[in-house]
Amino acid sequence: AAALPGHAARARAPLQPDTVAQAVAAAHRHFAGLREGKNADYIPYLASVPSDLYGVVAVAPDGGVAKAGDVGYAFSIQSICKVFNMALVLESIGPEALLRRVGSEATGLPFNSVMALEMHRGKPQNPLVNAGAIATVSLVPAASTEERWSRILGNMSRCAGRQLDVNDQVYHSEMDTNQRNRGIAWLLRAREFLEGDPDATVDLYTRACSVAVTTQDLGMMMGTLVRGGVNPATGERVFKTENVPRILSVMATAGLYDSTGSWMFRVGVPAKSGVGGGIIAGMPGRLALAAFSPPLDDFGNSVRAQAAIGEIAAATALNLF
Ligand code: DON
Repeated sequence: AAALPGHAARARAPLQPDTVAQAVAAAHRHFAGLREGKNADYIPYLASVPSDLYGVVAVAPDGGVAKAGDVGYAFSIQSICKVFNMALVLESIGPEALLRRVGSEATGLPFNSVMALEMHRGKPQNPLVNAGAIATVSLVPAASTEERWSRILGNMSRCAGRQLDVNDQVYHSEMDTNQRNRGIAWLLRAREFLEGDPDATVDLYTRACSVAVTTQDLGMMMGTLVRGGVNPATGERVFKTENVPRILSVMATAGLYDSTGSWMFRVGVPAKSGVGGGIIAGMPGRLALAAFSPPLDDFGNSVRAQAAIGEIAAATALNLF
């Protein structure tokens, strides 16, 4: 019988570690000289990160790692944290409650759009835009704000396979300039799409976005998704396997915001970007990719990271379709 589309990974020739290592090295070499894009500056700290930093990592489901460039440099995870907070909430409240409270639709609008909320009677649409991500943070079950924070940070740390922490400079820089996110949180509260105190929730969301990760960490975090919820290095199960396709489906519809459609058209691999310059992407059972470089395109996605992941995805037959 012909392989079902959802089982495409099994129908492809197995990936050899050499193929992956060569693709990672080539992508690093090919795009190191790319000079397009501009660091984010609406969070002042991000403008100060050196623009030529560039790291590329691949993690196989068996834990094999290939890397090139500045893979040990720590930067802020930003929106990529939304994927892991979504996973945490899926684990605790289940898919139906998440669909009801947050949704899984693309907005077709920028990641911090207020109009997207207003167009849907205050419902945030998906966990990977700011409104949905703030609502998602409020849904992490906990008796106190600090307990909620320790669950959020603990979850990301288990995916990375090491204890992560906040970069305080990024956190303060964003807290000084996040009036728009606070407005979004209060709009969510007005329509009962946010539990508890909006300001405390935005504070947690901002801490989560300020967590410092390296490209290697991001590779392992994506590795946990492609390995079906198990960290490929530590062997710890972090998510139920059944939640992985749900998470990847939202990455495939909304991971690169209002340029997700053209990303899927060109590359065909679920991905998630952050304004710190990181992007993760991967195909279940086959390969996880992470890349980092601060200059962004007009949608807020790293130019070099997109180029690197696109090229490696082509070389390793990752396109889902
Ligand atoms: O809330 C914000 O604006 C940032 N903490 C995160 C935005 C982000 O990373 C969007 N990415 N492309």
